[in-house]
Amino acid sequence: MSDSLPTVMRAIDPAKPGGPDVLAVVERPVPSPGPGEVLIQVHAAGVNRPDVLQRMGLYPMPPGAPTIMGLEAAGEVVALGEGVTDVRLGDPATALVSGGAYADYVVAPAGQCLPIPPGMRFTEAAGLPETYFTVWSNLFDQAGGKAGDVVLLHGGTSGIGVTAIDLCRLFGLQIIVTCGSDAKCLSSSGLGATHAINYRDGDFAAEVRELTGGRGVDIVIDMVGGDYVPRNLVCLAEGGRHVSIAFQQGARTELDLGLLMRRRLVLMGSMLRPRPVAYKAQVAAALRDKVWPAFADGTLTPRLDRVFPLHEAPAAHRYMESGGHVGKIVLALR
Ligand SMILES: NC(=O)c1ccc[n+]([C@@H]2O[C@H](COP(=O)([O-])OP(=O)(O)OC[C@H]3O[C@@H](n4cnc5c(N)ncnc54)[C@H](OP(=O)(O)O)[C@@H]3O)[C@@H](O)[C@H]2O)c1
Repeated sequence: MSDSLPTVMRAIDPAKPGGPDVLAVVERPVPSPGPGEVLIQVHAAGVNRPDVLQRMGLYPMPPGAPTIMGLEAAGEVVALGEGVTDVRLGDPATALVSGGAYADYVVAPAGQCLPIPPGMRFTEAAGLPETYFTVWSNLFDQAGGKAGDVVLLHGGTSGIGVTAIDLCRLFGLQIIVTCGSDAKCLSSSGLGATHAINYRDGDFAAEVRELTGGRGVDIVIDMVGGDYVPRNLVCLAEGGRHVSIAFQQGARTELDLGLLMRRRLVLMGSMLRPRPVAYKAQVAAALRDKVWPAFADGTLTPRLDRVFPLHEAPAAHRYMESGGHVGKIVLALR
């Protein structure tokens, strides 16, 4: 590593789980990139719901993941580990990491770095990796989403939701979303959701069946779990796929196996963070080829809601927990 780099940096690395106030800025050693890794000087880091769960002590950390918070960062590449050839010193990059992004420097596998599209700010780019990798991996890789499919997704204004709306628009899928207020429904429709249902107004499943002329949807992306799962299954067309990405209302549910069999439904799920670097690099390559050009030509834009300075991370988490955001919340470090 270059002698010009500092040895100590600011970081958010809570000593114990708790409320937003555990997110104090502390000093930590600057990490070194290992073989196949790069060191990024972080300009901005995205805030994601899994960070809130981690802060509360409710997230199963993959073995070896840094305890410093943060799953995505954008900045400048300032050191290269052994064997890195496809990322250069000085490159602006945005990266998916398994932890460590709420800090002045973070180590990222080179394969999980993506270029920052021309004209995009670091604060905008920092909010892309976690949701783009997650939606790509679940909607396209796992569930086989393709043009013409109809998707149902809960949390239409979440970071995941706005990304799914954008990717469905880009690749010609229809997307029905549910949201907890009329204002959020309006925001989702404004971003390009085909339909937005306020789930507080009635039975979303009945509305989905009506909107699809009784056929149902091809894919459900579910982040709610609990008693949503049987209601989601009622929304699925024959051969439909149900993908669990979170269970905000509980990990246990009841299944009508008769319905599963009659409609030949498929239940699946995934968690991105513990997946191997090789898989994430494969997703990064797909995003670079198929999605990143749409940022360059303006078909896609980042959905940044609000930026907080690093020392206001507690306020950023409180804001996420209040549910008032549409799209991404980001921490700025410089
Ligand atoms: N499996 C994975 O690899 C993976 C990766 C990243 C994220 N995730 C998960 O994906 C979810 C979204 O993450 P994010 O960072 O985008 O979070 P976020 O922006 O904070 O969004 C959370 C969303 O959950 C919705 N929600 C909560 N309770 C709901 C309910 N009962 N019915 C419908 N919607 C409900 C909220 O919508 P309303 O306010 O409209 O209710 C809100 O839009 C989180 O649960 C996160 O843990 C999973």
